[in-house]
Amino acid sequence: MNKIKFFANEISPDMEGQHVRVAGWIKSVRDLGKIVFVILTDREGELQITFKKGVVSDELFSKIKKVNLLSAMIVEGVVKKAKTKYGYEIIPEKVEIIPAEAPLPIDVFSGKTELSKRINFRTLDVRNRNIAAIFRLKSLIIKAARDWFYQNGFVEINTPVIGLYVAEGGANVFEVDYFGRKAYLRQSPQLYKQLMAGAFEKVFELGPAFRAEQSYTIRHLTEFLSLDAEIAWIDDIDPLLDVLEKLMIHIVKTVRNEGKIYFELLEKELPQIPDRPFPVMSYEEAVRILKAAKIPLEGKEIPHIGEKYLGDYIKKKYDTEFFFITDFPWEIRPFYTMKYEDSPNPSTPTKSMDLLYKGMEIATGSQREHRFNLLVKQMREKGLTPEKFGYYLEAFKYGMPPHGGFGIGVDRLVMQMLDLSNIREAVLFPRDPERLEP
Ligand code: 4AD
Ligand code: MG
Repeated sequence: MNKIKFFANEISPDMEGQHVRVAGWIKSVRDLGKIVFVILTDREGELQITFKKGVVSDELFSKIKKVNLLSAMIVEGVVKKAKTKYGYEIIPEKVEIIPAEAPLPIDVFSGKTELSKRINFRTLDVRNRNIAAIFRLKSLIIKAARDWFYQNGFVEINTPVIGLYVAEGGANVFEVDYFGRKAYLRQSPQLYKQLMAGAFEKVFELGPAFRAEQSYTIRHLTEFLSLDAEIAWIDDIDPLLDVLEKLMIHIVKTVRNEGKIYFELLEKELPQIPDRPFPVMSYEEAVRILKAAKIPLEGKEIPHIGEKYLGDYIKKKYDTEFFFITDFPWEIRPFYTMKYEDSPNPSTPTKSMDLLYKGMEIATGSQREHRFNLLVKQMREKGLTPEKFGYYLEAFKYGMPPHGGFGIGVDRLVMQMLDLSNIREAVLFPRDPERLEP
């Protein structure tokens, strides 16, 4: 017999009489005295295993009556057509049980256990296929994004997570003791992807990014998954908007084609394919709209309620959930951002943009300053020490092309696509100021 198991969705009534090996976790046991129905759940679906007294050994029959829920079970048996929900049942011949203790620490199938407890027992939690659907969708989104980048001439790169550079400002950087030297966890792959756009011309990178965020919100973690792209030979941010639009449309099309089951399991609507171009609003215009609505800024930053308000505004006006805000002022953008004109004025607009989805920032991007002297000047304006940027800065002395790119928060994208109320729902083992385990 084939020792690899069949997934539940690989078995059908027309396999009547066939010997199969199946496995999963016990979701329910219905004991009718002389017959016991066990429902196994695996990654792809459910199976009914029917134990009949006299057909299976007495030892197994009494064992099955006492088995605890979520015990693992490996069954070798025969497929038999039956009037079950599935159209068939499995008559077991050989059964192995790996027991689960009782009582279970969380109520896996009711969906009623609170999130933080569920995360404490994540393996049990994601045996619930409705919860697992979030992560199956995340995996599909990542596949779709990778496919799109490969189809469009991008090279996938992998750059370090530990290093000496602080890319996005010192306030929320994690320090690491690196054999007695001070090093940092990357806040984004920003500086390294720029360096590689200077050779591979179109690059992307998928990997973790770290922020020592002390704020306890539904949309910030201390570790998140960042999908970054960087493109050489651009003159303004238009190509970045273009790439983001095409990428998002490809992701939405892919999840509509291949991810319908996950939306069904979660009882959520499939996302609509957005039209191109996405609406574009300048920062100035966004501020004007928020002012009229009496929503104050946080310093110069648009607060989350402001993003929500603008999301509703765009939805009403254009019936779409994606839109861009562009041209943020210099004082709220990092040193590497290109300005429209070389001016030390903090309100100078920059060649920058955010992508918002359902009223939340999911991506940030910009054209970068590639002219060595201006880059040094911009570092100084931000109070940074150019010497600390070592090779990053040095590289701009040797023919660095004009370039720009963006970073997408993948966890936020998943959160918004499924209307999850907390980013932690979209991360298997989330990291926040209080959680380092599991
Ligand atoms: O907006 P951010 O900070 O931009 C950058 O890191 C730039 N290097 C991007 C670029 O290419 N210019 O982060 C990018 C995205 C955000 O839009 C958000 O979706 C996500 O990363 N993000 C977080 N997600 C979860 N928790 C956090 N603490 C996050 N910080 C940023
Ligand atoms: Mg941002």
